[in-house]
Amino acid sequence: MCGIVGYIGFEDVKEIILGGLEKLEYRGYDSAGIAIENNDNMYICKEKGRIAQLRESIDKNITGTIGIGHTRWATHGIPNKINSHPHQSYTKRFTLVHNGIIENEDELRKKYLNNTKFTSDTDTEVIVQLIEKFVNDGESVELAIRHTMSELEGSYALAILDKTDTDTIYAAKNKTPLLAGKGEGFNMVGSDAMAMINHTNQFYEIEDREFLKITKDNIEIYTIYGNKVTREPYIADIDSSDIEKGTYPHYMMKEIEEQPFVMRKIMSEYSDEKGNMKISPEIIQNVRECDKLYIIACGTSYHAGLIGKQFFEKIAGKPTEVIIASEFIYNMPLLSENPLFMFISQSGETADSRAVLVKVKEMGYKTLTLTNVKGSTLSREADSTLLLYAGPEIAVASTKAYTAQIAVLAILAASVNNKINIDIFKELSKIAYTMETLCDDKDNYKALAEKYLQNSRNCFYIGRSMDYFICLEASLKLKEISYIQTEGFAAGELKHGTIALIEDNTPVIAIITQENINLNTRSNIKEVKARGAATMVISMRKFSQETDQIVIDDVNELLSPLATIIPAQYLAYYAALLKGCDIDKPRNLAKSVTVE
Ligand code: M6R
Repeated sequence: MCGIVGYIGFEDVKEIILGGLEKLEYRGYDSAGIAIENNDNMYICKEKGRIAQLRESIDKNITGTIGIGHTRWATHGIPNKINSHPHQSYTKRFTLVHNGIIENEDELRKKYLNNTKFTSDTDTEVIVQLIEKFVNDGESVELAIRHTMSELEGSYALAILDKTDTDTIYAAKNKTPLLAGKGEGFNMVGSDAMAMINHTNQFYEIEDREFLKITKDNIEIYTIYGNKVTREPYIADIDSSDIEKGTYPHYMMKEIEEQPFVMRKIMSEYSDEKGNMKISPEIIQNVRECDKLYIIACGTSYHAGLIGKQFFEKIAGKPTEVIIASEFIYNMPLLSENPLFMFISQSGETADSRAVLVKVKEMGYKTLTLTNVKGSTLSREADSTLLLYAGPEIAVASTKAYTAQIAVLAILAASVNNKINIDIFKELSKIAYTMETLCDDKDNYKALAEKYLQNSRNCFYIGRSMDYFICLEASLKLKEISYIQTEGFAAGELKHGTIALIEDNTPVIAIITQENINLNTRSNIKEVKARGAATMVISMRKFSQETDQIVIDDVNELLSPLATIIPAQYLAYYAALLKGCDIDKPRNLAKSVTVE
């Protein structure tokens, strides 16, 4: 969940590395560091906090054409200057940045490094010390790195500098994302394409347990056994303006407002020239042929999966189970005879989901990934992929990727049952328009956030059926960026325990977009109101009441989550803004969760 970047070439590396780290800050932002080879000296600067702090501390006069950098999300050792990367070996010959977790660090310390003096509390330092030890034992640098890789258990993306060889960056990968960027007279390495896209759009995918030798003119890829790998680079279809904030105050606001566009983009990507739905026949056949669909995901993507289940069962008639990836891996349910596993992941890099993918592939089951990132690990490793076409999502809180996931799930379910009488594209077009109308009502959401949320310690979302799933996502959005303790409840469950939590002025936000539960949820609102709750209602126009604070134009009830989530995203945004929180980079979180 950290970000790494490296550059070797002809330009001054300082700004290239800092710029790359800024693009990677979504992956972790509690400390950062940089190493630059400068006239036979290794200049190292590290800071607790954001890249902005690192930028402040860096010696402005330092120049160099080879360097590596790191932005950290702490796992081993508190976020401080000492534990920040880069880390160095005991003679300071090797300097290294690492993303991942080394699970057998204690064994390795005991086995090889009993007499080595460590300076940090990190697992990472074991790697760099081991490389130096193996070199001092007589191994070449390449062999020492590959030897170290073979000793490591866990995940790593590494970039390594050797003080005695200023023409090479070494890199290695296992279970953690890494790409090499190909340039003219320079080359790069980084955790993702965004870190390098201002310099190149040509990238080499790196597989697990591969090792790289990168010079300014060459990128050589080897297996852990030292066999050379031949691979062509791919061209990334990312416009560097997609990853800029433009005039928006925060990425989250930009990404919320991009949702109508994303809906239209998805429709165009998944339609043929006659405007009919277009999804690979093989994927459709796999869904049709399986006896049960297992959706595996985490966080917001899991919430999209819960809605996907409704589509697959109600539209496609396919039994579907949705399971949190980190639960599945240690507590596997009894599987059906012919399952299909579907992985939903914005980043395509989530370690918990990947662990399940690896396991079910070993068991011989078919797999499909829905992801926003072409070429991501989950996409490469699954049998097939459906892309989300949401464009880069930078804010940690997922917004447009969530609605993109729901839209693609709806199109897939409808493609599986082409006899349904819902015109999905017509309904999605209506949704895109409704999203625009909802985005125009920002002042209302801001005023509601001021009234209900600004001074609240906690908050509850309640709803039934499709609305319940939105309550789960709405509460995740609010809690993760405003730190207001928020829970989403099935409204009918309140009286079975939760209602005990309602006090005077506890905010309770009810969602009502399904006709068959309208009256039931309205009764639940009365029950909490009678106990002092400050209630707010988000409802669909056809059964809205005059006192409802947010009214959504009528849309297809099954697809209503795509509209309902918009005001909930804004309420979270404004609550966080009013409380002075860091909206795009909430505390303790990272965008891409690449450790289990
Ligand atoms: O990249 P993924 O969709 O696999 O990420 C899964 C979760 O970490 C993610 O959805 C997380 O819950 C959101 N960032 C929350 O807004």
